[in-house]
Amino acid sequence: MCGITGYIGNRDAYPIVVNGLKRLEYRGYDSAGIMIYDGKNIQLTKTKGKVSDLEVITNKEEERKKGNIGIGHTRWATHGVPNDVNSHPHLSKSSDLVIVHNGIIENYDSLKKELITRGYTFKSDTDTEVLINLIEEVKKEENCKLGKAVQLALNNVIGAYAIAVFDKTKPDEIVVARLGSPIAIGVGEGNSEFFIASDASPFIEYTKNAIYLEDEELAIIKLNKGIKVRKIKDDSLVDANIQKLKLSLEQIEKGGYDHFMLKEIYEQPKAITDTFRGRMLPDEGLIKMSGIDDHLQKFLNANRIIIVACGTSWHAGLVGEYLLEDMARIPVEVEYASEFRYRNPIVTANDVVIAISQSGETADTLAAIKLAKSKGAFVFGICNVVGSSIARETHAGAYTHAGPEIGVASTKAFTTQITLLTLISLKLAKSKGTLSNSAFRMYLQNMQLIPNKVADLLKIDDKVKEIAAVYKDAPNCLYLGRGFNFPVALEGALKLKEISYIHAEGYPAAEMKHGPIALIDENMPIFVIATNKGHYEKVVSNIQEIKSRSGKIIAIVTQGDTQVRKIADHVIEIPETEEALTPLLTTIPLQLLSYHIAVMLGKNVDQPRNLAKSVTVE
Ligand code: M6R
Repeated sequence: MCGITGYIGNRDAYPIVVNGLKRLEYRGYDSAGIMIYDGKNIQLTKTKGKVSDLEVITNKEEERKKGNIGIGHTRWATHGVPNDVNSHPHLSKSSDLVIVHNGIIENYDSLKKELITRGYTFKSDTDTEVLINLIEEVKKEENCKLGKAVQLALNNVIGAYAIAVFDKTKPDEIVVARLGSPIAIGVGEGNSEFFIASDASPFIEYTKNAIYLEDEELAIIKLNKGIKVRKIKDDSLVDANIQKLKLSLEQIEKGGYDHFMLKEIYEQPKAITDTFRGRMLPDEGLIKMSGIDDHLQKFLNANRIIIVACGTSWHAGLVGEYLLEDMARIPVEVEYASEFRYRNPIVTANDVVIAISQSGETADTLAAIKLAKSKGAFVFGICNVVGSSIARETHAGAYTHAGPEIGVASTKAFTTQITLLTLISLKLAKSKGTLSNSAFRMYLQNMQLIPNKVADLLKIDDKVKEIAAVYKDAPNCLYLGRGFNFPVALEGALKLKEISYIHAEGYPAAEMKHGPIALIDENMPIFVIATNKGHYEKVVSNIQEIKSRSGKIIAIVTQGDTQVRKIADHVIEIPETEEALTPLLTTIPLQLLSYHIAVMLGKNVDQPRNLAKSVTVE
């Protein structure tokens, strides 16, 4: 949670830091702040609200914008309500030191009490203000430089952090450090300038060279001199590995769409293709995935596969369970990472754990991985963000290659995660002989057609919009599906809740009669996935049960369906495909529906209230 940016170089820092904050706003957007050092003074501006609110203030006072060094922050509140005072950056008591912080200092209360006994006072309720004063106290006590003081202070801290710290008395450097929260450093030509950010998007137009700090590392970034990276624990020097970024500016802009979410929905044909490109070879009847190939025996000999994830990624994991068990006949359990990590689960060295995460930074998923590793399990990661913490923490893995997902509501991450899980299931099924060669080839051919079918489905956007207009004012909605499409029902409900704030529940269709049926009356819209294979007849019976109770039915059916059309109030058709592949199609109209309802209700689609894109706190 929270985004941090920084710049030190010869350009004006303000536009770089502020534009960087706009790109990081997906991480948190309840307050924003910036510090610019003008060569003499620290100019601090911070406010409750979005980066645009911050700009309203800075635009009135041009003085606040002058200087070549700056740090900035966009916040998702943890300690202290969102208000001007709790916004970052925070100053130390002497006002010489300034900090921006992403994460949580768990022992801040005891540190604060200790600092109070030493004469410190606090303006905010934040853990961050405690940290910057701790750094100041250590610097004074040890009579040391900023880098050393940050290192010593962090050794007394319990929690998670990505920080950037500036010292007015030594204004040619910025010190950054990480534990559990990401930090990337962009390196300009000849060390003439450096960029700091929670991810590389804020500096992509300036440099393609980036260093990603590892956990428990601290970097001293010195203008014209370079970067020194050290281990926080023992002060040992680390070789900073400069990576070449593949990200482009175009990828992180809206490209003519009104919202990132809509752009990302429309990117799915390409994203799915990119996920299987080079991996799925239908002509050769092969799936190549080095992360699996190199560890094939681990998967084939596994007692079971445990999938850990959160939110939408957990829903994709549930589709994975249906796929893996159906195709590869390997027992699968799907766990909320947040529960798994604390419930003393039974995990052995014969288990394979698959961790799924778009961001690769979700704190609960990361902790679940660490727990599984400590018990000897082999952990495989499915991530979208290249070089993310989860990608690095796992033994092996595969990237979804969906491209940056900025909208807080996950869309293309979901379908590309399912695409990867389908490839993995097919590959394991082939290796185990649980799927015949002809069935395997048939699946590959059908998979190859999915991107075009998704593209076709996107053409019915106007029809989905009409349905959205009918149901936009409903206070509650139900989503029903069976088999492979039960997780899609859950995901459909989550999408609606997240961005339109309408209460929605996803249920296995047959479970409806065990309780939720009591909710049904003429005001209740029910979205039912009723594709023509699998449990079709059973779902049709469920639809009849709803109709008898006057519920409104919006059914997702296969093209050419006649039976459901007779009963449903609205039908949305998807192209024909194998039942196991239908989640890649049935999801699309539900995403569009949520999007249009949220837009019609005037909600902030890309930045829904109370949410953040990556949840790097527990
Ligand atoms: O980055 P991750 O996939 O680990 O994120 C997990 C959830 O936080 C995420 O899917 C969340 O539920 C989204 N807002 C869903 O749209």
